[in-house]
Amino acid sequence: MNQHARADLAPIPFIDIAAQRRRLGHAIDDAVARVLAHCQFILGPEVREVEADLAAFCGARHVITCASGTDALLLPLLAKGIGPGDAVICPSFTFCATAEAVALLGATPVFADIDEVTFNLDPAAVEVAIATARQLALVPKALIPVDLFGQPADHAALAAIARAEGLFVLDDAAQAFGAGYRNRRIGTLADATATSFFPAKPLGVYGDGGAVFTDDDELAAVMRSLRVHGEGRDKYDCVRVGLNGRFDTVQAAVLIEKLKIFPEEIAARERIARRYSAGLAEVATVPRVPEGATSVWAQYTIRLAPSRRDFLAATLKAQGIPTAVYYAKPVHRQEAYRRFPVAGGSLPVSDRLAEEVISLPMHAYLDEPTQDRIIDAVRNALGS
Ligand SMILES: Cc1ncc(COP(=O)(O)O)c(C=O)c1O
Repeated sequence: MNQHARADLAPIPFIDIAAQRRRLGHAIDDAVARVLAHCQFILGPEVREVEADLAAFCGARHVITCASGTDALLLPLLAKGIGPGDAVICPSFTFCATAEAVALLGATPVFADIDEVTFNLDPAAVEVAIATARQLALVPKALIPVDLFGQPADHAALAAIARAEGLFVLDDAAQAFGAGYRNRRIGTLADATATSFFPAKPLGVYGDGGAVFTDDDELAAVMRSLRVHGEGRDKYDCVRVGLNGRFDTVQAAVLIEKLKIFPEEIAARERIARRYSAGLAEVATVPRVPEGATSVWAQYTIRLAPSRRDFLAATLKAQGIPTAVYYAKPVHRQEAYRRFPVAGGSLPVSDRLAEEVISLPMHAYLDEPTQDRIIDAVRNALGS
């Protein structure tokens, strides 16, 4: 180690998973030890327990945990029989898994543009996407709003379109479990909701994991079957083609403990986001959360002129402050997805945001002196 290293240049983590691990300490060790003692590693009692805890947390009638956020997207689409000839409308300014679940089933993702302020699906663009799908002789079947960076999409407006068009709505809340919308929690705003417990998510485990939420009894039963190879009466009675999509019992035990402190962590994230916005509003475009919605702040993302973004990233990096760009390349520009249709022929807002966004360190354990160091560094770099 460089003995002359300056404290004000010490590296700051982008997400400090270790800080939470220190806080939870023995609670996690004991929870994992209990699983190691009872040895019910596949769909053990902790899986059922955490499903009940998650349902109580968000108010959903059914929670089906699964192996990843990607499986949580796949299970409801598979259960609804989405496949070749079907169009599923989704944003392009998202992680590729949103469209991947659609493409894996042989259906066609139709990419729609987003609102410049919330970074989430623009309801007007969804109407354009429906028209684009029909022009291509595809049948619009489903809509996947993404609650990007932890902030809920405009669910009321999107649900109205979906109702009028007969679309199934699958909320991709991989980044947003814990957020709120009109006095309801994410998990209850769509026909089905998918979330991810990837370690870096606001509610993450120590490996992969995910869950689907729904109030629909029949859909829930089909997804439970699909999660275990399409089982019927038992595992050796296959009534549909499914997958091995089960949530690991050890991870369920971890999640039970993490969920207990999640409300406090959500409050901390909110406090930290407000401090960022107060410190940075003068020098950058800071996030805005519409009235009636609350974000869980999976990312704290500002916007800058493209020419200043690289400069800011390099300047902060030299001071030990990491940044990230989600997403430099929207999904419709990725090699694997270029062949899929784009609503109305272009996505100008998605393309522009891809050049302007930059995310700063964000997690529930970001203390004020460290955050002040980040705020000062951004302000200095941007010349204020
Ligand atoms: C918007 C979105 N959808 C889906 C996923 C997929 O989740 P997982 O990595 O748990 O499969 C992610 C995770 O990064 C995501 O951010």
